[in-house]
Amino acid sequence: MTRERIVGPVPDPEKRPTRGSAQDAGGAARRGADGGEDEQFIRSLRPRLLRECIGQARVVSGLRISIQAARERGDALDHVLLHGPPGLGKTTFANVIAAEMGTSIVTTSGPALERGGDLMGILTNLERGDVLFIDEIHRLPRAVEEFLYPAMEDFCVNFVIEKGVHARTLRYTLKPFTLVGATTRAGLLSSPLRERFGITHHLDFYPVEDLALVVRRSASILGVAITDEGAAEIARRARGTPRIANRLLRRVRDFAQVRADGTITLEVAREALEFEGVDPLGLDAQDRELLRTIIQVYGGGPVGIDALAATLNEEVDSLVEMVEPYLLKIGFLTRTQSGRRVTPPACEHLGLAVPRPPADRGARGQGALF
Ligand SMILES: Nc1ncnc2c1ncn2[C@@H]1O[C@H](COP(=O)(O)OP(=O)(O)OP(=O)(O)O)[C@@H](O)[C@H]1O
Ligand SMILES: [Mg+2]
Repeated sequence: MTRERIVGPVPDPEKRPTRGSAQDAGGAARRGADGGEDEQFIRSLRPRLLRECIGQARVVSGLRISIQAARERGDALDHVLLHGPPGLGKTTFANVIAAEMGTSIVTTSGPALERGGDLMGILTNLERGDVLFIDEIHRLPRAVEEFLYPAMEDFCVNFVIEKGVHARTLRYTLKPFTLVGATTRAGLLSSPLRERFGITHHLDFYPVEDLALVVRRSASILGVAITDEGAAEIARRARGTPRIANRLLRRVRDFAQVRADGTITLEVAREALEFEGVDPLGLDAQDRELLRTIIQVYGGGPVGIDALAATLNEEVDSLVEMVEPYLLKIGFLTRTQSGRRVTPPACEHLGLAVPRPPADRGARGQGALF
């Protein structure tokens, strides 16, 4: 049986407010936000075991081998780092790892751990083989991170008691545990921390076929009638992200119930998603606004992320973590040393003229645009 404990404010995006600042435990929150309105719905859809996970074949088979080997040896699983854009399954896989290992999971997050002492209490309470899941591990304060190094490496923690000349370091031995760290920004992790993870997996956007399976699985759990074409249409507009697929399914389900006979067909899905402002490529109002701003205000770019965020009145983190990755993935945006640029296909998609490259804009450069 898996015992589940949650320590501190957990930034589960499905429970986050719609928009969060980078200072929130959750940070940028747009994509994941469902306002906690239907938590039961989300929980019921989350795969519990590896065999229920759809797609991510390399991650699934890699974990399967590591888990089986650790179980056969009777060891705790090596520490696992999961990184990738929001909504692709990092929290899901962390829970799956604990379930497959037959151990408990204790969940916390980088911003919730302010001092080494916060972590001390958690670590000393872990049982042999338990999973400690630290979400948003890139937001771990430096002091806590350093506290974590010996815990990860030697299963011990050193803490200082008393002060000044009486200061003494006590060494406390921990039971072997597995740290599962999740991050949307692996690049922000310090290299000593990154190097202490024995297993690292990157979660990439899901192909449409896999998302269609996610939609069909969720529909069957929810008892919603859906055609293959209806599921494929939701999948095409889900930005490669299972969480978005599930969220769109929920919106389309409502629409099908009220405006149709309850069955999600291709037409119902299309109409519902258009109604939601989700275009045929899955871009929503915020994606289009970002692209349009770069094209119309910054002549197609390059534009620095700070200037762009200021113009859009958004947090930089929110753009970098939630909005940009998919636009980069589909080639609508490129990231150069001098900033972000949109590509001709993005302009075509929006029905806007492709801006002239900066070299053609004459001596006044970008200034000519204003
Ligand atoms: N492999 C999968 N198969 C089926 N459903 C999945 C899979 N991965 C994720 N999901 C669904 O997508 C939802 C979001 O996944 P999850 O919360 O694990 O994402 P995350 O990577 O932790 O996101 P964040 O970075 O925002 O915390 C889950 O509730 C689950 O229903
Ligand atoms: Mg998560």
